[in-house]
Amino acid sequence: MSQLSTRHLLGIKDINADDIQLIFETADNFKEVLNRPIKKVPSLRDITIANIFFENSTRTRLSFELAEKRLSADVLNFSSSNSSVKKGETLIDTVNNILSMKVDMVVMRHSSPGAPHFLSKNIKANIVNAGDGTHEHPTQALLDAFSIREKLGDVAGKKVAIIGDILHSRVALSNIFCLQKLGAEVMVCGPTTLLPRYIGQLGVKIEHDVEKALQWCDVANVLRIQLERQQIKYFPSLREYSLYFGINREKLNKLDKEIVIMHPGPINRGVELNSDVADSEHSIILQQVENGVAIRMAVLYLLAGVK
Ligand code: CP
Repeated sequence: MSQLSTRHLLGIKDINADDIQLIFETADNFKEVLNRPIKKVPSLRDITIANIFFENSTRTRLSFELAEKRLSADVLNFSSSNSSVKKGETLIDTVNNILSMKVDMVVMRHSSPGAPHFLSKNIKANIVNAGDGTHEHPTQALLDAFSIREKLGDVAGKKVAIIGDILHSRVALSNIFCLQKLGAEVMVCGPTTLLPRYIGQLGVKIEHDVEKALQWCDVANVLRIQLERQQIKYFPSLREYSLYFGINREKLNKLDKEIVIMHPGPINRGVELNSDVADSEHSIILQQVENGVAIRMAVLYLLAGVK
């Protein structure tokens, strides 16, 4: 297979295992390019890409921008906080104005689930979802699975525990779809209040005891407590959350094996993850960020080939 089955990347739910393997194989090639003295290739010369971010981002926005520049694309960056959205302009008006400048691809982050799906039905450009509310974050899941493959040789057959605020996490849902499509076993772990009621229907194991989850898994993907999306209190205090669900060296020392620690960032240090683990030899957090550039180069390159 040399072409994706879709012209947009809206979610992992919409792509198949062959698409994911093609993205990984293409990312392997781009990772080799990124380790050369000259890190740029002409693959997307004459392609213009707009990065449209209606929500804050550090890793995803910079990673997409770098990926686009490494592919020699022309890049436009839009951030809603200093735009005419503040004057009341609608999403479709904003995007149509940007597209009238002859943009070929749109990378979009938005707080509303389904915003990129809405755009894909209304505009001609290829759309990449860079995170839509609590729904999906497909390139994060791809770079997470790619990092597991790099560290452990394969994703199939591995046991991955996703630990923390599953309820508000787009990373959790995209990871569940991606890992299952690649043949991994997935567990979610957190307080009952932070696990969505439907989660068991996705075929994942459910655990509320973090020490049992750590003992079960090969990889723990630790998620941020998303206080900005929590309108009510889901647990008594951050101190109590950290005591029961926070991952620290003491909990890892109780295991009879070594596990891999991941986190999509940004980390609430001392809440879901302590520095003695985040910065330890168990952690592949910065490798995840590094791999994000190669994965996003692969996604953009492959989507540009589907008309
Ligand atoms: N992992 C992730 O999406 O980080 P940012 O919010 O900084 O982009």
